[in-house]
This record gives sequence, C-alpha cells and structure tokens, in this order.
Amino acid sequence: MTTLVGLDVGTTGVKAIAMTPEGEVVCSAEAGYPLMTPRPGWSEQDPDDWLHASEQALARLGAGAHRVGLSGQMHGLVCLDDHDRVLRPAILWNDQRTAAECAEIEERVGLERLISFTGNRALPGFTAPKLLWLRRHEPDAYARIHRIVLPKDYVRLRLTGEWAIDAADASGTLLFDVARRRWSDEVLAALDVPHEWLPPVSESTEIAGAGDQQAAALGVGVIEPGSVSVVLGTSGVVLAALPSYACDSEARVHAFCHAAPDTWEAMGVMLNAAGSLRWLRDALAPGASFDELTAEATRWDAGVEGLTFLPYLQGERTPHADPDARGSFTGLSLRHDRGALVRAVLEGVAYGLRDSLELLRELGVEPEKGRVSGGGARSRLWLEIVASVLELPLELTIDEEGSAYGAALLAGVADGVFADAGEAVSACVRAGAAIEPNVDWAPAYEEGYARFHSLYPALREVEDR
Ligand code: XUL
Repeated sequence: MTTLVGLDVGTTGVKAIAMTPEGEVVCSAEAGYPLMTPRPGWSEQDPDDWLHASEQALARLGAGAHRVGLSGQMHGLVCLDDHDRVLRPAILWNDQRTAAECAEIEERVGLERLISFTGNRALPGFTAPKLLWLRRHEPDAYARIHRIVLPKDYVRLRLTGEWAIDAADASGTLLFDVARRRWSDEVLAALDVPHEWLPPVSESTEIAGAGDQQAAALGVGVIEPGSVSVVLGTSGVVLAALPSYACDSEARVHAFCHAAPDTWEAMGVMLNAAGSLRWLRDALAPGASFDELTAEATRWDAGVEGLTFLPYLQGERTPHADPDARGSFTGLSLRHDRGALVRAVLEGVAYGLRDSLELLRELGVEPEKGRVSGGGARSRLWLEIVASVLELPLELTIDEEGSAYGAALLAGVADGVFADAGEAVSACVRAGAAIEPNVDWAPAYEEGYARFHSLYPALREVEDR
C-alpha cells in the first residue's frame, strides 16, 4: 500500500504523519524540544534537537523507506562550516535582535528597491538581517560559514545528504527574488553575501518541501483565491493564495512563493497567537489544561467588560513591524478573574488576525471563508471568536494535521502519486465542521477592535517617553 509521509519541524516540536493517498491519516507521532531565550528578544534552538526529534518521530511512525515531505518553521538561520558542522545555535523566526541590521539593509538597498527585488521589507525575523548581525557580532563564526540552510532543510541534509531549498521557504530569507523565483543577485551583491552559501532552489512540488505556512495552507486546500488559511499556531497567520505575483507597495504583508509552481501567496504574521495563550497558562496556571482555561473563558461575555489584551509579547511583525512592541492588559477591574484574562487573550489574538486580514483586503483579497489549522483551532470558543472578529465563516478540515498534512501532500506530488498540488488537494482535503460568526457578539467586537486598534499607538507613545 502507498503511504505518504509528512514531517513538520515546528517551534515547540516535530510532528510526523503517515497517510493514505485518499488523505486518511493512519499514524502520527510528535517529539518536543526546548526554545532558548539567552537574552531578551533572542530566540534560538539547537538544530540537532530538530534532527533527533525528527528521527524519533519517524521511527515511531515506522516510516523507514518512504520519501518524507518536509515543512518547517520559516526564516531560521543555520550556519554550517566546511564539514557541515553547525557553527552556532539557529536564530529563529521570532528572534528580534536585528533591528539595527534591518535598518542598515533598507538603507543600503533602499526600501523601494528592496521591495522591487524581493517583494518584502527587512523584518527582524527574516534570514538576511541575521547574517549581517552575525558578521558584526560573531565575526569568527561568520568567517567559518561554508553554507547556510533553513530549519527543515537542515533536517533534510542530515537525513538524506541533500542540500536543497524550495522557492516557498526561500521567499522568507529576504535574499530571494519572489517574483522570478530565484536568488536575488542584486540583494546578494548589495549585502555582500556569497551566492555559494545558498542551496539550489526547486519548486515545493519537485522537492517535497515548503515553509510551514505554505504547507499549512496547502494542507487545508488553500491554493487558489476564495478562502484564506487561518493558523492559530505559536504564530498567528492569515494567508491568501494569489493567482499571480503581487506585493503591497509598503510590504506591510509578506509576499512569498506558494507551494505550487507559478503560484504566490500573501500573508500577515503575528508572532504570538497560541503562543500568547501558552504564555498565560505558564505564567498564571501552570499545569492547567487549555480546555480548562477556555472553559473558564466561556463564562464571560464578548468584549470581557472592556478588558483588552495586546499580544505583542515578543514584539510584532504584522501590522506593526516593531521588535520593541510589548504586550498589555488594559481595562482591568475587580470583577475580572482568570477566565476573563483568558477570554481577553483569545480576543486580542483575533483582533491581531483581523489587522492582517484588513491588509490583505487592501491587496484585493476577498475571501468567502477561512480554513483553520494549528493547535488553537482545537478550541471551539476560540474559533467562534475568530470567526466573529473576522466576520468570516471558518471551516475545519476532517484530517486536520496542519503543516505536516501539507508536507505529506507534497511528498505525494513529488512521487507522482498526484499530478499536481490541485489533484492532491482534490483527492485528500475534505471540509469538516463550519463555524459561523456569532451575530450577537458583533457590536462588542466592533467596539473591541476599535479599542484594540487605538491602544498600540497610545501605549507606544508612553513607552517611548
Ligand atoms: C512565517 C513565520 C512563522 C513561522 C512559524 O513567516 O515566521 O509562521 O514559520 O513556524
């Protein structure tokens, strides 16, 4: 029997799945690893933790002989020496140390030219500013770089010996010409980064790999306009598939290649979505389950009597592009209890997703529905809140396995089980339950979103003093 295997190298752990060519998941395995924050704003992992967790999860799956479709956290910088030894811990997508290098890149290349070369602006999470940071702060490690890889491609290199990347994940390096789907000679020259350090680029469907967001979108069937992919993972994402290349003139949303040839996507990325709820749990209720916490939140009405949460716990990307932004609760009263704090977190994340959706709408995206995935999508309450704040029906898929599912579909295309990504989606992705916006909550969320929107500039002004 043919089995398709997908492996997602995430931020909190790996997930591996095996499925039939009809899309039924027959087995899955997970293995976790730590995240290191050695200084405020820093976020690092040991690439060998990804490798060992991947080996463990694949062994538990019994996936020995199969091609493994890969997806993974995007943007992370892994530097290798001339023996492919890791030179320092990987610097991750949510690391915020490179504000100065981002400013330097936009200065050196010019913001408009940078957007015309790459479709994007310099954001601290992206890969190129991390290279410049390394050149400045750790010149010894920089001098020994022989080649670089992204997280899931490090796992590929170790498992198969192949040094490779796909256009989708390469899009998040800021060294990539997203419109032409190749490394940008202009940016490489301007930043003085050697071309030889970068892996050869293939399409996701040829090489069975994509960034986790493109894989998640594929896994819920978002490969053409109509619906958007809404992800409640550690990060929170609203992603729209685009029929042709397009980017925002100020690059307020990311413009990346999608996981099928000649397709693109635009997305807004919040750094802490389910990450915010995890933070609250760890800080206030260690040991409590997410189900217990969200059950407490259901006892509160929409809008939580004016309690508002800003989810900028590690700075923010969309829409503020501000590594120094910080989270907050405002509007606390004696009546508020733990359930109120939880509900405010669920709502604050939903408002953040609405910010991304509004920017996508400005690009001409007009979705009829959202398809949801990520750990946070297990909460019915959270889905109802997000649907209501986005004013968009949300749909679950039957075999919701997020990015790992998309990775398995890519393995199927690369192995010829499916002719292309469209056929893979038609054969496997089945819509599940739909969650409609709750009209009774609409007035509270209109007011809440307006309040949320005005808080960031107001608080930023106070912090700047
Ligand atoms: C996407 C991004 C995050 C990570 C999380 O641009 O930075 O979604 O990929 O895994």
